Amino acid sequence: MQTIGVIGAGLMGNGIAHVAALAGYDVILSDVEMARAEAARATIAKNLGRGVAKDVITQADADAALGRIRLTTDNGDFADADLVIEAATENEAVKKTIFAGLNLKPAALLATNTSSISITRLAAATDRPDRFTGLHFFNPVPLMTLVEIIPGLATSDATKAAMHAFAGRIGKTAIEAADSPAFIVNRILCPMLNEAIFALGDGVGSVVDIDMGLKLGANHPMGPLTLADFVGLDTLLSIMRVMQEATGDPKYRPAPLLVKYVEAGWYGKKSGRGFYDYSGSEPVPTR
Ligand SMILES: NC(=O)c1ccc[n+]([C@@H]2O[C@H](COP(=O)([O-])OP(=O)(O)OC[C@H]3O[C@@H](n4cnc5c(N)ncnc54)[C@H](O)[C@@H]3O)[C@@H](O)[C@H]2O)c1
Repeated sequence: MQTIGVIGAGLMGNGIAHVAALAGYDVILSDVEMARAEAARATIAKNLGRGVAKDVITQADADAALGRIRLTTDNGDFADADLVIEAATENEAVKKTIFAGLNLKPAALLATNTSSISITRLAAATDRPDRFTGLHFFNPVPLMTLVEIIPGLATSDATKAAMHAFAGRIGKTAIEAADSPAFIVNRILCPMLNEAIFALGDGVGSVVDIDMGLKLGANHPMGPLTLADFVGLDTLLSIMRVMQEATGDPKYRPAPLLVKYVEAGWYGKKSGRGFYDYSGSEPVPTR
């Protein structure tokens, strides 16, 4: 495997392109507009620069990685790719349209970074369900060392093995998850974040005390309300709804306070307000 295609140059796509290029792969990175792809390359340059400043990589490594990334706005441009990773907007119709427009060599592997859409269903919309898996990265990709590999019903053993080898070469630890809503990490993590919001709404504790409780009492590196703000409350709500709809199990119902915050446009850190107010130099708890 030498050439990796990445479709979608947003938050996740730029991180995936970054780690693949740093591991020595040639990378083709696409988005709908060249300006977005160029913005992603600027982000990658900045993040590689941070690695140089921290002595994690050399300037020569950073320059070489950046030089290995080619930008395009044409998803038909992946004819050289050995593996293409789709990291476009979380919308099934968008992803299926992308797969229909690809022009891959017969042996190429295809993966999706989807957080919530069925891998088997997406695979069925491609011309290569046996060479297709979920490859679920975590944000920020250059720093988070985990990747979940999610085989669909038709995925071959050879494809699984190739995905494990790729994950290893880009320095990630892979775990394998069944094609089940939210896979492993989000299935366990998101209900915990949702429960913290239930606890807040029920008046069990303040924002500060709930976060402190899990940090000091469960040794978590950050509290669940802080983490929910980082994930994005709109994203958390949509994951809880996917789990509730897919399983029909009421244990996954979203906390009413989570729904209210999203209705208010309080999406967490990215919107400037969630369980903390991020408008000042330090986050301030809001309840
Ligand atoms: N944000 C996270 O923490 C996270 C974590 C794991 C997985 N994911 C998944 O990764 C995927 C991308 O998420 P994101 O947060 O990077 O989203 P994002 O909105 O930051 O980026 C998506 C990019 O895809 C581009 N795009 C849309 N249609 C396209 C097309 N036809 N061709 C090429 N590019 C196209 C958009 O212009 C945008 O730049 C989603 O499936 C999401 O569920 C996100």
